[in-house]
Amino acid sequence: MAKLVATLASTHHPFYLKATTAPPEQQMPEAPTWKRKIEAYRETLAKAEPDVLVMIGSDHFHQIFLDNCPQFLIGKAERYDATFYNEEREFGIPKYVLEGDEAMSRFMHQSLMNQNFDFAFSNELKIDHSIICPIITVRPQNDLPVVPIYTNIFAPPLHTPKRFYEVGRAIRKAIDDFPSDKRVAAIGTGHLSLELGGPRQFMETGPDPVFDRQAIEWLKSGDIDAILENVTHESMAQSGNATHGFLNFILMLGVAGPEGADYVDNLDLFHTMEAYFTWYPKEAAA
Ligand SMILES: [Fe+2]
Repeated sequence: MAKLVATLASTHHPFYLKATTAPPEQQMPEAPTWKRKIEAYRETLAKAEPDVLVMIGSDHFHQIFLDNCPQFLIGKAERYDATFYNEEREFGIPKYVLEGDEAMSRFMHQSLMNQNFDFAFSNELKIDHSIICPIITVRPQNDLPVVPIYTNIFAPPLHTPKRFYEVGRAIRKAIDDFPSDKRVAAIGTGHLSLELGGPRQFMETGPDPVFDRQAIEWLKSGDIDAILENVTHESMAQSGNATHGFLNFILMLGVAGPEGADYVDNLDLFHTMEAYFTWYPKEAAA
């Protein structure tokens, strides 16, 4: 059977590449620290020596619109084009082509359906920065095949935090049951407190630093009970109009265990808190 060798959950900041590759005199003061933290985080994936990446992200209305909006979707393509025009123009993110792992996508889709999770699928998925940002940060050589999974964190009604957790558990089972000797890493991105286009967007911290610190503690200790007790759609909306991206962190905790994280780091940036977590399955730990 395939072996999950690492689970990574992080924020996805589309300006990382631009911020850290600009001429030094144009860089924001936090850029060198940011780069150092990302490179340390990258090592947590490298040391797990994965063969294939299950990537969890959320389309930012680039390919999926309100005419047909799945809650959960798995990509089943041979390869995936990535990066939309506005992401190139605004964020300076280059185009990518990601190789797919069709056999694993097929197996995982069937497994998720067998577990009563009605995943939509796409053989023509194009990937946006929710999946390309972690490729840039933790696997910039882009040398591994992927199974992309999209969740709906943007267009209400959204599924509950509990459902996201359960989907994470089901993804974990689908990985564990995949008949293969592959080493699999699951990598998902979302947000802590975040405000986009609202009055709290351009503050010195994220819109809700109290939530951010609490959320990091919950993920660090793997305390899914506290998360499910305290995090609701209403509480996330109060923490910032795009805080629902935290649902993807909840999903990743489902993939991981839930258990305490083995690696935790964060960085307070202008208007947002960056956070980086890695879990190693205890049986796979060296
Ligand atoms: Fe995002």
